[in-house]
Amino acid sequence: MSESALPATVYVVGVGPGETDLLTLRAVKVLERCEVIFHPGPRDDSGFALAVVAPLLRPNQLIRGAELAMRRGPDDGTVGYDRVAQRLAHEASQGRPVAFLTEGDPMLFGSGSYVAERLRLIAPDVPVEIVPGVSASSAAAARLGWPLAQKDEILTICPGTYHSDEIGAILDRGGPVCWFKAAAVLPRLVEELRQRGRLDRAALIERIGHPDERVFLDISEALLVDLSYFSLVLVR
Ligand SMILES: C[S@@+](CC[C@H](N)C(=O)[O-])C[C@H]1O[C@@H](n2cnc3c(N)ncnc32)[C@H](O)[C@@H]1O
Repeated sequence: MSESALPATVYVVGVGPGETDLLTLRAVKVLERCEVIFHPGPRDDSGFALAVVAPLLRPNQLIRGAELAMRRGPDDGTVGYDRVAQRLAHEASQGRPVAFLTEGDPMLFGSGSYVAERLRLIAPDVPVEIVPGVSASSAAAARLGWPLAQKDEILTICPGTYHSDEIGAILDRGGPVCWFKAAAVLPRLVEELRQRGRLDRAALIERIGHPDERVFLDISEALLVDLSYFSLVLVR
C-alpha cells in the first residue's frame, strides 16, 4: 500500500453459536471480501469460530489462529487482545481487508468487543466494523422452545465464574437467567436450584449447533460428565 492510501477495514464478525446457516448474510459477504481471517482458536487450522465459517472459506484466504485462551476460571484469557489488535491493525495498514471472528455475538461478552476497543486505541485511523451474530443465549432459547423473556420479565445474563458466590441471590431476584461459563459453577448452581425447587426449570446446552451438541433437561446429570467451556444453563 502507498503511504497516502487509506487503511483497509477490520471487520469484527459474530459467527453465531455453531451452525453455518445461522451466519448473517452480512457476515457471509464480509468473509468473501477479506483476504486475512483471524479467529480466537489455538492453531491456524483449528478453532470453535473457525469451524463455523470453514465451509465458506477459499484456499487463497490467509487463516490465522490468535491463541486467545478460553479458560474456565475468572481469568478468561484477556491477555492476548492487544497482540491480536496489533496484528489486525498491521494487516489493515497494508491495505488488506481483515476479519476477526467471535463466536455468538461480538458485543455480548465476546472477545471481539475487547479487540475492537484495543484497536480504536492503538490504531484510531483504521476503520472498524462490527458484524452482529446470533448469541448462544438466543440459540439456546430457540433450541429449547423457552422464551428468553416475555412481558414484564427481566432477563439476567450472568457470566457464572465471576459470580459464583451470588448464584442464590441472582435466582432469588426472579425472572429468567442465562448462565454463561456454566460448567465451572454447575455443582453450586444445581444445589441452589434444588434448594429452591427450581431444578425442573433449568436446562443445560453444550456446544449448541455443533455436531457434538448435548442437551441436559435434568442438569444434575451434567454433573457426571466432562463439560466443555461452551456450555450454558437457561433457567425459567
Ligand atoms: C465469553 S461468552 C461468549 C458469548 C458469545 N459472545 C455469545 O454471544 O453467545 C462464552 C460463553 O458463552 C456460552 N456459549 C458460547 N457459544 C456457545 C455454544 N455454541 N453452546 C453453548 N454455550 C455457548 C458459554 O456459556 C461460554 O462459556
